[in-house]
Amino acid sequence: MMKWSKRILVSGVLAFSANAYAMPPTPEMLTFGCLGCHGGAGSAGPSMPTLANQSKEAIVDAMKKFKSGERPATVMGRVAKAYTDEEFALMGDFFSKQKFHVTSQTLKKADIKKGAELAKKNCSRCHMENGKEGKDEAPVMASQWLPYLQIQMELYSTEKRKMPEKMADKVKKLSKEELDAILTFYANVK
Ligand code: HEC
Ligand code: HEC
Repeated sequence: MMKWSKRILVSGVLAFSANAYAMPPTPEMLTFGCLGCHGGAGSAGPSMPTLANQSKEAIVDAMKKFKSGERPATVMGRVAKAYTDEEFALMGDFFSKQKFHVTSQTLKKADIKKGAELAKKNCSRCHMENGKEGKDEAPVMASQWLPYLQIQMELYSTEKRKMPEKMADKVKKLSKEELDAILTFYANVK
């Protein structure tokens, strides 16, 4: 008797978990593993971006490029391989709806001022509203960690990450100091 009831209990549990697996994962389940590094209250470190309020298009585009290997990565290449395009869309949607996070960092005042004008002239067509919006798949850059933005700019400059042609037209005409000032301006936007 005892054995039977145990069996029924076990098979009941199995039937339930099989059902749980059959259900498509929710955006919360999909993004649970991302939050330790990209948390809604700011990312875990200055070399990784905060994803709260990042645009859906930018996230989906980045994930596809990480997965194919087109965009260089320390960890994201491996992470992206675990998900489908449909899941990228769900995760992009999830992060894009999170509240904008203001990153607290110490930045050079002179660079912020100099960068504001240079950004307006060279970058604002696609990195709109002071970097709070991105045209098409251009990422939101407002209040992102400066070291993260500098790492990405370095990857572009050394041609390890492919720059959109029209962005390259602008970037190529600027010195490293000018680019740093622009990135400092974006990092400071609140
Ligand atoms: C161990 C830490 C870690 C985990 C876990 C992680 N990421 Fe990342 N993520 C990074 C780092 C670091 C970068 C910068 C690129 C690189 O070096 O891999 C990054 C970059 C990104 C970017 C590029 C953003 C931009 O502005 O261009 C996106 C999008 C992203 N991650 C999404 C995700 C999603 C979605 C998950 C969960 C499925 C996830 N990440 C899990 C560390 C992590
Ligand atoms: C024609 C539109 C366009 C212009 C102009 C433009 N960008 Fe971009 N930018 C993009 C797009 C699209 C991406 C994402 C592309 C990719 O790498 O896949 C991007 C990505 C970036 C990133 C990486 C951010 C991240 O989270 O990964 C940085 C940094 C950046 N741009 C800086 C600049 C600067 C500085 C300027 C001005 C000198 C500029 N961009 C001008 C379209 C543009």
